[in-house]
Amino acid sequence: MVKAPAILTIGDKKVELPIKSGSIGPDVVDIGKLYGQTGLFTFDPGFTSTASTESKITYIDGDQGVLLYRGYPIEQLAEHGDFLETCHLLLYGELPTAAQKADFDNRVTRHTMVHEQMARFFTGFRRDAHPMSVMVASVGAMAAFYHDSTDINDPLQREIASIRMIAKVPTLAAMAFKYSIGQPFVYPKNSLDYSANFLRMCFAVPCEDYEVNPVLARALDRIFILHADHEQNASTSTVRLAGSSGANPFACIAAGIACLWGPAHGGANEAALKMLGEIGTVDRIPEFIKRAKDKNDPFRLMGFGHRVYKNYDPRAKIMQRTTHEVLSELGIKDDPLLDVAMELERIALHDDYFIEKKLYPNIDFYSGITLKAMGFPTSMFTVLFAVARTVGWIAQWKEMIDDPAQKIGRPRQLYTGAPQRDYLPVGNR
Ligand code: CMC
Repeated sequence: MVKAPAILTIGDKKVELPIKSGSIGPDVVDIGKLYGQTGLFTFDPGFTSTASTESKITYIDGDQGVLLYRGYPIEQLAEHGDFLETCHLLLYGELPTAAQKADFDNRVTRHTMVHEQMARFFTGFRRDAHPMSVMVASVGAMAAFYHDSTDINDPLQREIASIRMIAKVPTLAAMAFKYSIGQPFVYPKNSLDYSANFLRMCFAVPCEDYEVNPVLARALDRIFILHADHEQNASTSTVRLAGSSGANPFACIAAGIACLWGPAHGGANEAALKMLGEIGTVDRIPEFIKRAKDKNDPFRLMGFGHRVYKNYDPRAKIMQRTTHEVLSELGIKDDPLLDVAMELERIALHDDYFIEKKLYPNIDFYSGITLKAMGFPTSMFTVLFAVARTVGWIAQWKEMIDDPAQKIGRPRQLYTGAPQRDYLPVGNR
């Protein structure tokens, strides 16, 4: 059904702006011709009211706490699916048949090794480098190692680059971890599934046999599913913007990783765990709640609040269950951080400030406790997020490249600097 256009009145001029509808979710006002018709730009810093693209991949209803990948609720995928079939779903639009799944798993598995020269590249880093900096650099460097899949105009090369990144980013992440703790790199083992293989590359050492704990592997797989995509968030928009100039896919994903690193985005899992440690005991929670509410204190409850979710983040609920499963499997009965987290959540959910501002726990609130229990240091938390999100970034990048209406992304501005003035020689200033 064609909707009546929105009418914008500017002085005595009326402009008709088409309204477009998606399959679900709010309609959008198409302002693409606004500048041409009126000489005006729209102004929306932080894109709080701006849809930057059409997309068929992920849908979020922030008020209801709903997250769908290609129409499938995140709860069903996390409960019944595995990460690689989620990758297939995000990339190609459908859950794979058994034959497609076998083929896709095989293709990803056969690309898990990285160029041997990459090990030499790693040794250029300081051992105490943050692994996210190593990830930005090493994923960007893939363009140098896999130059034969950087032509974005060749669909086959795009496909190969996509599979290479989904397969090799975990290997690079495990190498970043091993390098930071001074242990030898562990080659991938293709008889293992994606998440079990990642655990082995992180925690096996050559002098001992390593048995992957299936409960932990399943939990990690679920964590990867939960983080796989989240529509047009900051890092995904970064990937799309980088890709809109025609940059190669490895450069685009490296840009996404750089953006993810920030504490308001993927870095929040690291920040949330640090905060729980800083609070330390349940009796100190009121002090921190008070600080979070104080306008003059920059402190925020990390792992709380979300630009889109104004309800419980559906991923946080699944994450909370996964945390309990992992701690129970590892026989951790009393984790002081978990006690603090659960009490903090309880208090915040009953506090007027958090209720009014609709601040609920997000996925990062519980993920840190789980990853720490598995043996990952805090500096690796955002790296694991990057491993999982790689497929989402790639799916969004591919969708953009396939879109015939795609243009270079080029926002405009409201200029508030000096008007034109004349250059003065240095002696006259
Ligand atoms: N603790 C205390 N107050 C908060 C918090 C918080 N965590 N989050 C938002 N507020 C307040 C904020 O002060 C503001 O108050 P007022 O209206 O009085 O100025 C109001 O709530 C709205 O906040 P905002 O900053 O305008 O909202 P935003 O949509 O720009 O920010 C956010 C969203 C996620 C950056 C923010 O909630 C935040 O900084 N949370 C902590 C960091 C975090 O957990 N990030 C992970 C996000 S989920 C994973 C991911 O997508 O990467």
